Amino acid sequence: MNLTSGRITIDLEHGTVGYEGEGPEVTYPLSDPRAFEIVSGAWLRCGWDTKYVYTFSWFGRPIIQLPDDLVRMQEVVYRVKPDAIVETGIAHGGSLVFYASLLRAMGGGGRVIGVDVEIRAHNRSAIERHEFIESIELIEGSSIDPEIVDRVRRSVGSARRVLVVLDSNHTRDHVRAELEAYAPLVSVDSYVVACDGLMKDVAGAPRSKPEWREDNPYAAIGEFVKDHPEFVCEQPPWPFDESEGLRRNVTYWPSAWLRRVR
Ligand SMILES: C[S@@+](CC[C@H](N)C(=O)[O-])C[C@H]1O[C@@H](n2cnc3c(N)ncnc32)[C@H](O)[C@@H]1O
Repeated sequence: MNLTSGRITIDLEHGTVGYEGEGPEVTYPLSDPRAFEIVSGAWLRCGWDTKYVYTFSWFGRPIIQLPDDLVRMQEVVYRVKPDAIVETGIAHGGSLVFYASLLRAMGGGGRVIGVDVEIRAHNRSAIERHEFIESIELIEGSSIDPEIVDRVRRSVGSARRVLVVLDSNHTRDHVRAELEAYAPLVSVDSYVVACDGLMKDVAGAPRSKPEWREDNPYAAIGEFVKDHPEFVCEQPPWPFDESEGLRRNVTYWPSAWLRRVR
């Protein structure tokens, strides 16, 4: 859904949602999954404009993610049970701490390897003082620098189950290069996740750039899967679902999940 055009009408009295986009206006009852998708789209846009995702922390460190995405990620981590999680894009370290907390809770001794082109001194020092630092490795440098990729590869070493999260520079070319560099580390039935494809939907909103319509992680994924049949783009199944016909994540990561099939 494009989040910078169209008109949405929410009528709580009659329990309906109206949407007028390119075509004629449609109206759905609030109980219809399509109504939920439309309202969620408006909520995502409103959250984008108000910087909702910049209000959370995990075990003391700021984490710049939509909580829905974190719960979905937790479902996958619990199922895949990675020995190593690689994440590009550390920022304040909240997401590294999030992964470390899950791996520790599962008791398997898994490790999180984080890469950032610039780990600011106050962030580095807070992460290095964190209770979970023993599970975390920090690597500073560009995620597509061959030397950095090699360091990550060596650090992953012989880990059998590996999950990769790409959350650094979100341009198409950068994400494409990250996919080529890090997807080979992913184990069968695990995932590489290219975050923040929502960029394409909010292009035109405040804090966006017009070129985001084409220049985004979603485009990189499309290119990558064409060349890599060993990966399929699919939303991980929900382990629990008693909803009234809902199917799609409410997410900043549309079409972000690439599962390794062989
Ligand atoms: C969206 S933030 C990461 C948020 C973090 N994963 C979280 O959930 O809180 C993006 C980070 O990517 C880093 N970054 C930008 N370009 C990069 C590159 N070429 N290589 C590695 N990191 C990069 C930035 O320094 C920034 O800290």
